[in-house]
Amino acid sequence: MSYEQLQEAAAAIAERTGRESHQAAVVLGSGLSDYAASLDDAIEIPYSEIPFFPEPRVVGHGGSLFSAPVGDGAVLLFAGRVHTYEGWDLDEVVFGVRTAALTGASSILLTNAAGGLGDGFAPGDLVAIRDHLNYTARNPLVGMNDDRLGPRFPDMSEVYSKRLRGLLERAFQTASVSYREGVYAWFLGPSYETPAEIEMVKRVGGDLVGMSTVPEAIALNHMGVDVAGISLVTNYAAGITDAPLSHEEVTETAAEARERFTAVLDALLPLLVKG
Ligand code: HPA
Repeated sequence: MSYEQLQEAAAAIAERTGRESHQAAVVLGSGLSDYAASLDDAIEIPYSEIPFFPEPRVVGHGGSLFSAPVGDGAVLLFAGRVHTYEGWDLDEVVFGVRTAALTGASSILLTNAAGGLGDGFAPGDLVAIRDHLNYTARNPLVGMNDDRLGPRFPDMSEVYSKRLRGLLERAFQTASVSYREGVYAWFLGPSYETPAEIEMVKRVGGDLVGMSTVPEAIALNHMGVDVAGISLVTNYAAGITDAPLSHEEVTETAAEARERFTAVLDALLPLLVKG
């Protein structure tokens, strides 16, 4: 990944959408990707038509970027993301959100499905990410630093912006959806965690586990972009109950929670665009 490639992708998005800039972006997690197409006047660009964009390796779902007018501006929405466990390099995993930042997006929301560690983090719950733990020993900033993107040693003391967490609070209130804040622990996957790993995460203060979001958050924090994260708890993490984990449970819970999640996004997008 180079800065020039990011610029080329951002220029292609400007050309295809006829919009010189987008003020905000949203990465839609598992079960949420239909949200983008439901927005009025959304323009769809398949990832395959954007230079250097990686395409998700799930049969039949190449992924698309949407551009939708919101308030006085416009939002980019990622329907489909690539994961590190699919074998992508981290600079490919973060390419899309870095491009969004170059189109002008200064507030970016990352959403995902996650396992909940109990004690109030139960299936169906929506959680605003307050901070994260990185259990992969990987980092998208490894390698030569490009100073045009950000500093060599970026501060990480407020990755999930307090300002955006304030906007999330307002959006949840407007949508009459209850939520809480929590700490998200990133595991590589694709196997789910063991009960011993979940016990470890619990002891150090983690509330959620998942296989995405953190690389994007690190890369955007590096660029000085304000980041927010929302997890939908789709299942109890391993060992919290006796039940084995299954991908079916994850997708079923995501489908059940869609209406609430959608109401929150409807309330949040205008706030993100206004800044
Ligand atoms: N672990 C990791 N990733 C997940 C989980 C989980 O329990 N649920 C949804 N994504």
